[in-house]
Amino acid sequence: MKSVVLPAYNNNLIRALLGIRIDDKDIPQPKPGQVQIKMEAAPYNPSDIAFLRGSYNVVKSLPCIPGFEGCGIITETGEGINDRFKGRRISFFVQDDGVGSWSEYVVANITDCIFLKDEMPMEQAACFAVNPFTAFGMYELAQQESCTAIIQNAASGQVSRFISELAQRDGLKVINIVRKAEQVEALKTAGEEVVLNSNDEQFEEELKKLAHEFTATMAYDAIGGKMTAQLINAMPADSEVIVYGGLSGMPIQGIDPMGVIFDRKIITGFNLMDWMDSLEDGEFETVSDYLQDLFIAEDLKTEIQGTYTYDDVVKGIRAYIGNMSAGKILITP
Ligand SMILES: NC(=O)c1ccc[n+]([C@@H]2O[C@H](COP(=O)([O-])OP(=O)(O)OC[C@H]3O[C@@H](n4cnc5c(N)ncnc54)[C@H](OP(=O)(O)O)[C@@H]3O)[C@@H](O)[C@H]2O)c1
Repeated sequence: MKSVVLPAYNNNLIRALLGIRIDDKDIPQPKPGQVQIKMEAAPYNPSDIAFLRGSYNVVKSLPCIPGFEGCGIITETGEGINDRFKGRRISFFVQDDGVGSWSEYVVANITDCIFLKDEMPMEQAACFAVNPFTAFGMYELAQQESCTAIIQNAASGQVSRFISELAQRDGLKVINIVRKAEQVEALKTAGEEVVLNSNDEQFEEELKKLAHEFTATMAYDAIGGKMTAQLINAMPADSEVIVYGGLSGMPIQGIDPMGVIFDRKIITGFNLMDWMDSLEDGEFETVSDYLQDLFIAEDLKTEIQGTYTYDDVVKGIRAYIGNMSAGKILITP
């Protein structure tokens, strides 16, 4: 099979990309509890970029095949898995050593596979296993806290787009934060009422004003660094910032301790794997059904800016990092 291979991690992404090659490898065979999947498509995600740099929390033995999610068809089943699953279309998630989704074939645990409805479009299925569930799980926290308004940064990113859609269905106000003027315009054109640019001079002042005016007591932070502090310092008493990404690559800094002590402000983290572990039996399937129906109805949609084959894998990564807000890029065999 044809696979994308990373021979060495490099904190300098350009150097990491220079090492990437396409190899012929043996098709992996499923172990007990696993299935073999013939890949249809996989996306590039921020976690993949961090992985190539060696700065993600998953580190594989080198050389390795990158890619943590995708969609495809089950071609073989391991011991303990019913043969009738062969031929089924699935989205899946995989972090195991020795395999990755940027490859013609992959093996994954059946427990990390999501059976797809026939109407799920391939492009949407390729990006289904991680971001939609992350958005759903995080948005549920706002519902549990009966929030009336939320704040989110990296607001042109796909997780944020989903959160916004879910929040607007319930009539919650959303304060969106982006970092470029053209992103403000794009979100406003897409129907967002409130969009702030973190590079504007008045940003912190404006954020504080709106956070208090709307009583925005929950914020979703994909960036870290000083942004986490800008959020929590601007929010009213009894607010919570949920950190789910570290796109700035910087440690959180600049939090006003008085807000934490006297206004009971808190910072927590969100991790999809922990959320999945916290679900009752059958709950994940119910959420998956709900989300798939939203995708099929096109109420939720992952923006796709392009598709590249393995031979053009590096070109595709460069296009993605050049404009992440334009949407995901898919890689296909
Ligand atoms: N915790 C979890 O379980 C979990 C699960 C899924 C995803 N995530 C995380 O969620 C975050 C968003 O993922 P996604 O798939 O939605 O991303 P995406 O669609 O690929 O978009 C990334 C967005 O972040 C912006 N961005 C990138 N670096 C930035 C920085 N330093 N400062 C401000 N904005 C920046 C990009 O804007 P530009 O166009 O301006 O670059 C773009 O709008 C990532 O950190 C990802 O790792 C976490």
